[in-house]
Amino acid sequence: MPGPGTFFFGDEERQEVMEVMQSGYLCRYGSDDDPNFKQKVYTLEREFARFTGAQYCVAVNSGTSALMAALVALGIRPGDEVLVPGYTFIASMSAVLAVGGVPVLTEIDESLTMDAVDAENKISPRTRFILPVHMLGNPCDMTRIMALAKKYNLHVVEDCCQALGGGYQGRKLGTIGALGAFSLNIYKVINAGDGGMLITNDQTLYQRAFAFHDQGHLPLRKGVEIGNRTLIGLNMRMNELTGAYALGQLRKLERILNTLRAKKALFKQAIQAGGLEGITFRRIHDPEECATLLTVQFETEELAAQAARALNSKVVFNSGWHVYHNMEQLLEYRTADGRQPYHKNMLPRTDSILKRSINLSVGVIDPGLGADFGITPLSTEAEIHQKAEEFVRIVKPICG
Ligand SMILES: Cc1ncc(COP(=O)(O)O)c(C=O)c1O
Repeated sequence: MPGPGTFFFGDEERQEVMEVMQSGYLCRYGSDDDPNFKQKVYTLEREFARFTGAQYCVAVNSGTSALMAALVALGIRPGDEVLVPGYTFIASMSAVLAVGGVPVLTEIDESLTMDAVDAENKISPRTRFILPVHMLGNPCDMTRIMALAKKYNLHVVEDCCQALGGGYQGRKLGTIGALGAFSLNIYKVINAGDGGMLITNDQTLYQRAFAFHDQGHLPLRKGVEIGNRTLIGLNMRMNELTGAYALGQLRKLERILNTLRAKKALFKQAIQAGGLEGITFRRIHDPEECATLLTVQFETEELAAQAARALNSKVVFNSGWHVYHNMEQLLEYRTADGRQPYHKNMLPRTDSILKRSINLSVGVIDPGLGADFGITPLSTEAEIHQKAEEFVRIVKPICG
């Protein structure tokens, strides 16, 4: 039961998928004048665009593909540097490398998202992109990131893979930068097993992203293609079964987010009522965050380590995949001229913050994020109070 969407699975998704099974049309392209062709992927794109307030949307087969298509749409060239935070999933880096770019790692701050001050320090003459990651559903400080982009004339691709439905200053995440990339894997706010979505308000970027995801074709393969294909693409298409499942989940997204926000608020209040000394909660940049996790931060690394042990959990630094320090495949990466640009402890501030932080589950139950302790989207009020009391009882002797 890893992501919130899995808890809300029901007849709606089953019904959508059955319609595709009965229609016999499994590919996103079918005979438009056959009423039996249900056009689930196309409908998903329209509804996703409407939900986020974006003008254009392309459904793809993963969040990684969405990131690659976004970078290609913006014309990434070999050797272009892309600022990426050191706390994210490896895909934020691997997508850049796969299309010829060079990820340049930045520190995070107490929000566990990109530190804009460090990002500015890492800008070189080769920097062309910023890839802020709305990590664990928390919107980045987009005001400062967009100001940086403007000052240095950089493109912004928002990695919203963990933050579908989140908002920042009244706008949905993914609509602030040039493009926004989303994942529908099983750990995400809603899921379709796997899958991805890409949004933008720019028609040319939409056409280029669409072309990259489908062998250079114009959107929806409409019109005469021969002579009109401007770039070499791949096949990252979403199929109708995935589209159907995702549609069932998308229509529940508002309900899922409301549930997460209410349960997280209750969990946090109940912990606060315990009067623990010396713990804080991570900085959240906008109340419209996704509320998938509750992160507590301790004054020292030692206290956090003791608390994690007592909770039978881990500090975020030791939680696995999402910390650059633990990405052996990245640390072993060598450039064409033999340099090894990434190494352990290269981001001391990030290391320190992650060693002082523990993630408590609310909607994402993922040991890979260190969220072994906490509640689920199905927890009742009584259970939430009980979990908060248990947390306070365990942590109080450690930090007072
Ligand atoms: C921050 C972030 N970026 C990118 C991705 C890649 O998404 P996908 O697994 O759908 O390729 C993920 C998925 O875990 C993620 O968490």
